[in-house]
Amino acid sequence: MKGIIVAGGQGTRLRPLTLAVNKHLLPIFDKPLVYYPLSVLMFAGIREVAVMCTPQDRPQFEKVLGNGRQWGMVFTYLEQDHARGVGEVFLLGRDFIDRAPVCVILGDNVFYGHGFPEQLQAAGAQPAGAQLFAYPVADPRDFGVVEFDVDGQAVSLEEKPAHPKSRYAVTGLYFYDTQVCDLAQDLAPSARGELEITTVNQSYLRLGQLQVTELGRGTFWMDAGTHQSLLEASQFVQTLQERQGFVISAPEEIAWRKSFISTDQLRKLGVAMAGNRYGQYLCSVAQRAASLS
Ligand code: DAU
Repeated sequence: MKGIIVAGGQGTRLRPLTLAVNKHLLPIFDKPLVYYPLSVLMFAGIREVAVMCTPQDRPQFEKVLGNGRQWGMVFTYLEQDHARGVGEVFLLGRDFIDRAPVCVILGDNVFYGHGFPEQLQAAGAQPAGAQLFAYPVADPRDFGVVEFDVDGQAVSLEEKPAHPKSRYAVTGLYFYDTQVCDLAQDLAPSARGELEITTVNQSYLRLGQLQVTELGRGTFWMDAGTHQSLLEASQFVQTLQERQGFVISAPEEIAWRKSFISTDQLRKLGVAMAGNRYGQYLCSVAQRAASLS
């Protein structure tokens, strides 16, 4: 399975923060926002990832993520010159996807939860149709909204409805089988002028090939697209990390846990940042592993 991080757009809701820096490179406590969706793909066992971003922002993404080799990954970049909508990922990414199953994640989505890595592993292992994740929110009008029947089957999907049929937002994490680019090839702009990923998901729903899993109470999900949510996500990460003594969503550690890199490679990545707690944490994980082997 391949992965795509959708990290284009203008970040207008975050101005003036985003006048010079792309939203997905802004900090969530101790690491750039894009590390969080990247970690999700890595937990799903995905090593080949494309980052969709604007041509202007590409050099900054390359500085932060490189070609992925340092984490045992392979990164490529897809340039979206204008924010035509998230759904354009299937048109720009057609050659990259190359009829493989693909997991698409929105670059401003932060997930964390007990048992979530196992859920990801399962979703990545059996791509049949499309698999989405729903999360209950107080006000779903800003999201894609899924309605379930009494058996928990998805029966409708709407993008930013004025009158939502449920309180379940569709999160920005989507697993697709090999049909996705064919289903997306005639995608046309919606009433608000965007190529919507929801339209592609509606095609799967019509085919009876859409599965939507509710994320439980033990999972944190947030779309860090506003000043408030950016700060809230930072506070969540800081609180959790300082209480538990773990660093969450560190690609270096996940790469090591998934055996994409060796303990010695992890140690070197930690040493390069040993002047701060992030680097010291990576060193301590490598040291503990070395002492056990
Ligand atoms: O976060 C979950 C929601 O994300 C879903 O519930 C919605 O169904 C889905 O449409 C999306 O809604 P948003 O309004 O939050 O999408 P937004 O315009 O914020 O874009 C999501 C990410 O995609 C963001 O990180 C920027 C990037 N993006 C957006 C557009 C419009 C692109 O890379 N290119 C684009 O053309």
